[in-house]
Amino acid sequence: MTILLNKINEVKNNIKQWKREGLKIGLVPTMGALHKGHESLIKKAKEHCDKVVVSVFVNPIQFGPNEDYDKYPRTIEKDLDVCEKNGVDIVFSPSPSEMYGENNRLSNTDLTFVCPAYNIVDCMCGKSRPGHFDGVATVVLKLFNIVNPDFAFFGQKDAQQLFILKKMVKDLNLDLTIIQCPIVREDDGLALSSRNTYLNTEERKNALTINKALKQIEKIYSTGVKDTKVLFDSAIAVLDKNLELEYLEFRSFDTFEPVEEIQQNTLVAIAAKSGKTRLIDNIIIR
Ligand code: PAJ
Repeated sequence: MTILLNKINEVKNNIKQWKREGLKIGLVPTMGALHKGHESLIKKAKEHCDKVVVSVFVNPIQFGPNEDYDKYPRTIEKDLDVCEKNGVDIVFSPSPSEMYGENNRLSNTDLTFVCPAYNIVDCMCGKSRPGHFDGVATVVLKLFNIVNPDFAFFGQKDAQQLFILKKMVKDLNLDLTIIQCPIVREDDGLALSSRNTYLNTEERKNALTINKALKQIEKIYSTGVKDTKVLFDSAIAVLDKNLELEYLEFRSFDTFEPVEEIQQNTLVAIAAKSGKTRLIDNIIIR
């Protein structure tokens, strides 16, 4: 039986009881509108842990002023069904005021923020979304403090977010392990995202070339080409011209430094807009 809790103290009371019983606790942070990608994280958490908490919270402090905070899909009833079906113990779905207090001033002039390492924030998604990763790191640390999990589950889909959060755990000596989960895709290759619901038929069709471009890089790399400039050009040739490319980058997934030659554990990450919808995808070349 999944229970829905909206209050921080109610969650903490349950957690205290579970800790007394020596149970292993898993946390899956989400913004809801759950799809099979989220579900794969939940299933992994069920495998690893005795108790699983899923948070469903559209976090206002990680959205920029012109982003989609208001129109972001909110489907809590459906999300509860998904959680129930997967044996989740608690769904934690707080209001913004429960998380941040009654004031509407949600900036770092009024709130304590976590400020992730600048070198890994000031690039890729962080460049076009100033303040986004401060908001992500802040809410995730709060969720960690509320749920006190042994394991927390994040998708490779948001590779920069994953890297930043792993580094936060290390740099701030948090006592938990982050488990990285693979990207779940539609049959035609489109990475699942809550924002895919914004796409019309044409935009969705064009968006398929994002994954095709990554596949092209893998293909050319498999013929022995390691030069990222050559690989970049081969990917651009595949991308639909109606997409607005924001970035296509090659970075070490150990250091997050850009790489000129593919090496072990290279992240190839892409962000592009199809219509008004911003989409991201990536592969890691092992
Ligand atoms: P959200 O976009 O809801 O994603 C929640 C988790 O699901 C993230 O770890 C994300 O990487 C993972 N995920 C999304 N799509 C996926 C896919 N296709 N395959 C595998 N995993 C996928 O990311 C956030 O929410 C927020 O920034 C959050 C961490 C909850 C903080 O507010």
